[in-house]
Amino acid sequence: MSDDAVLRELADGERLRVRVAGREFVIDAACPHRKGRLVHGYVNTRTLRIICPLHRSSFDLTTGCPVAGPTTEALTVYSDGPADGEDAPRKGRTER
Ligand code: FES
Repeated sequence: MSDDAVLRELADGERLRVRVAGREFVIDAACPHRKGRLVHGYVNTRTLRIICPLHRSSFDLTTGCPVAGPTTEALTVYSDGPADGEDAPRKGRTER
């Protein structure tokens, strides 16, 4: 994990809060590939991507889209603002 990112699983165990670069994202806690726990992943603070610790799929935190690695499925991004301003869940599109 980057020194500048803080990752914490929410109480439901289904979602992960990522605080990085002055922003907060709430995303799926499990990687869509083989359910790797993203709380143990690496966050690139410059590109705002999270990398799964199991097989190194990389996801854009702002869209949930996979950008590298073995998965083609996107993460759900539940919110990308203040913790009290949760938006409706959405799925990102796969970038090719
Ligand atoms: S479980 Fe995340 S890339 Fe395989």
